[in-house]
Amino acid sequence: KNSPVVTDLVKGGFPYLEQKILECKNCALHETVTNKVISKGSENPKVVFIGEAPGKNEDETGIPFCGRAGKLLDKFIDYMELKDGEWAVINTLKCRPPANRTPTKKEIEICRPFLTTQIELMKPTIIILLGNTAEKAYGETLEWGESKIDENGTHIVKIFHPAALIYQRSREAEQYGYLDKYRYLWNE
Ligand code: URA
Repeated sequence: KNSPVVTDLVKGGFPYLEQKILECKNCALHETVTNKVISKGSENPKVVFIGEAPGKNEDETGIPFCGRAGKLLDKFIDYMELKDGEWAVINTLKCRPPANRTPTKKEIEICRPFLTTQIELMKPTIIILLGNTAEKAYGETLEWGESKIDENGTHIVKIFHPAALIYQRSREAEQYGYLDKYRYLWNE
């Protein structure tokens, strides 16, 4: 069911995957980055959060969600009462698009084997899609705050991207409502 590329990446495990991401020149984004950004958190988490792409801070440090949006994501993780080891954070793209523009369909497609492999290796029981780019990359169609069980039996939930909430504070209450609604999935 997986493409040969994903099957090969999965077989090599995390170190091989990391090497392949660092070497990747499959699109032009690698030309303008300082660092590729791979993941943070556990290698076998219960919950995986999928964001969009590295921003300026992430590009400088190589760590996902380490800037302003990351502070808010930390708040969600606290609110969810997830312990260390129970979560991981990854992005749809591993390279920062110039000026933080939205990833193109083509870039999402080119980078997808890395995302798929990360999920295959981490084997989460819950995936939280942070916004529309993650939704597109994952290939599920969901409303805000909606959940589904995918073909692998993984629970998929789509919530607002934290960066979007920085500009729309009014939707924060809605976001915490979603986290309350699905709390039973990770706090059982
Ligand atoms: N926004 C994202 O989608 N990912 C990051 O790593 C940082 C900001």
